[in-house]
Amino acid sequence: MSPNIILIGFMGSGKSSAGNALSKLSGYAFVDSDTLIETQEGLKISELFVQKGEPYFRACEHHVCETLSNYHNTIIATGGGLPCQPENQELLKKSGFIVYLKASQESINTRLKNDTSRPLLAQPDLLAKRAPIYHLLADLEIDTQDQSIQSVAEAIWNTYTTHYA
Ligand code: S3P
Repeated sequence: MSPNIILIGFMGSGKSSAGNALSKLSGYAFVDSDTLIETQEGLKISELFVQKGEPYFRACEHHVCETLSNYHNTIIATGGGLPCQPENQELLKKSGFIVYLKASQESINTRLKNDTSRPLLAQPDLLAKRAPIYHLLADLEIDTQDQSIQSVAEAIWNTYTTHYA
């Protein structure tokens, strides 16, 4: 059994796109923490924030982290705030090979300029606050800036298979 590949990074860094491409490349299943929560709660993340509040959402994320050890050979994309909650960090470390997808504020702004689904997008300085946390947790960092999704997926897969061949 091989370890999971856990994708972390800011909103709009390409975790879902890279995760899907990596899933095709590797044959591993793909799961996304936000999708798991939306299914469990029967609400979109934006609705969950409005109806139940951010602390409730963070508790859902923590619950997802507690179940990660049940997954094997799986690509797991995490919401941008999930790795920043201290209570999730040890669980993430134990659950797989952690890949930080790096993106600049400018490219995030461009990618998400019409996005209305992310309640925390307008929060100032969030990337600057979170980037050092992503960096500390990561086993591998990939700059997504000037790369296609496919080459990001290939870079992750090559490094992962080198580690775990
Ligand atoms: C959040 C990121 C979102 C989602 C929620 C909160 C955050 O996920 O979990 O809106 O705190 O950065 P993505 O990183 O997939 O956009």
